Amino acid sequence: MKLSTASFFSVLLFSTLPALRVCAQSAQSFNLVQESSGSTFFDKWDFAPNDATFDQENNGDVFFNTKDQVSNAADGQKLAFINSNGNAVLRVDNFTNVLFPNKRNSTRITSQTQFGIGSLIITDMLHIPFGCAVWPSFWTKGANWPQDGEIDIIEGVNKNPQNQMALHATAGCMHSQITDLTLQSGKAGELNCNATGNVGCTVQETQPNSFGQSFAQNGGGVFATQFDSSGFSIWFWPRANVPASIKGSDSKSPISISDFGTPSASFPNTADGCDIPKFFDAQTLVIETTLCGDWAGAVYLDSGCATGPAPTSTAPGTQPTDVAKTACYNQQVLGPASAFDNAFFEIQWLRVYAAPNTPAATATGGSNSSTGSPTTASGSSQNTGKAPGAAIQIDVPLGLATFAA
Ligand SMILES: *[C@@H]1O[C@H](CO)[C@@H](O)[C@H](O)[C@H]1NC(C)=O
Ligand SMILES: *[C@@H]1O[C@H](CO)[C@@H](O)[C@H](O)[C@H]1NC(C)=O
Ligand SMILES: *[C@@H]1O[C@H](CO)[C@@H](O)[C@H](O)[C@H]1NC(C)=O
Repeated sequence: MKLSTASFFSVLLFSTLPALRVCAQSAQSFNLVQESSGSTFFDKWDFAPNDATFDQENNGDVFFNTKDQVSNAADGQKLAFINSNGNAVLRVDNFTNVLFPNKRNSTRITSQTQFGIGSLIITDMLHIPFGCAVWPSFWTKGANWPQDGEIDIIEGVNKNPQNQMALHATAGCMHSQITDLTLQSGKAGELNCNATGNVGCTVQETQPNSFGQSFAQNGGGVFATQFDSSGFSIWFWPRANVPASIKGSDSKSPISISDFGTPSASFPNTADGCDIPKFFDAQTLVIETTLCGDWAGAVYLDSGCATGPAPTSTAPGTQPTDVAKTACYNQQVLGPASAFDNAFFEIQWLRVYAAPNTPAATATGGSNSSTGSPTTASGSSQNTGKAPGAAIQIDVPLGLATFAA
């Protein structure tokens, strides 16, 4: 593991202050570190660094707009804005007839601050992007991937009805087998969090209305993620079940997690689990929507979204997932823009809290300028990116031109 300043600090905390792991439990209250809401929602986030930023991390068929592009777009064509209800909207272009070989515009924002062990991240959303080819995610990543870890809090593709949560780390981080439903209500999939070898360790939400159209129709809900040396917990509450502590909180009040109940996903730091401080460094928050690519595209032909036969290719080395990704691009990204009317986040607020007496929870942001910068078409050492859902990773950036119909 690369010894960045922050990771050194985590290791130090872990090795010298073990008592914190014990007391960092539910009875205490967490103090607000940062809030994004209302007209200043986007102030502490970065957009794409330049207008050639395509989704190289996931081989998605989108260009991410820069802050200037978003600001300068005509009314009705802004991909990020604060709506009349004071909520932040981040969306995919649903007004341009995109022509081959272009990609569709979308949005990706990354937090300017990194949040370490001891953090509690809570967001209240009314709408998560959904639809064919659509792949939204709210996730976090360390400065180096996968050495510093990745947490997927909200993620899904195409017509998936449920949210999927996951961790990605280097080899040696496992998800403990949890059968006690009072510890984790979700359904575990892959248990090996090894990012190199597989899809990461996944947990499927089992409560209804966690994703897609039903999430929006049900009035949305709240997601909370606790990043603790004793483990990660991710909670989801549909609108009617949001706990009193959250409903009663505002941008100033500390918050207690004693009424949070059973998390949807729990990744404990146990002997058969994951040594969290070893595998996870301070995390940059990311909210983005991509199209097709390594997950939504790779599974497209089996997603119930295909509108015609897959393209055929005799090009040597063509993989089935390449064919699926191309079908996704041809049939959806180039298709009518109205297919993306539901491809938007509407976020009421996002708050980050820190447990008391956990110095590592102090935001480390600002000092490390390379941390959390979105990938660019020009490529950089950070462009190893994430591998959220695809079992097979094939590098086909801009390769769609090779066998479009
Ligand atoms: C993407 O957005 C920019 C800025 O609004 C615009 O100039 C460009 O034409 C858009 N690209 C596509 C493919 O729609
Ligand atoms: C992690 O994945 C890599 C690449 O597939 C593999 O070589 C390694 O054995 C895996 N390690 C573990 C512990 O799963
Ligand atoms: C794009 O979608 C929004 C809803 O997200 C809708 O209000 C708007 O009319 C759509 N734009 C076009 C051009 O259809």
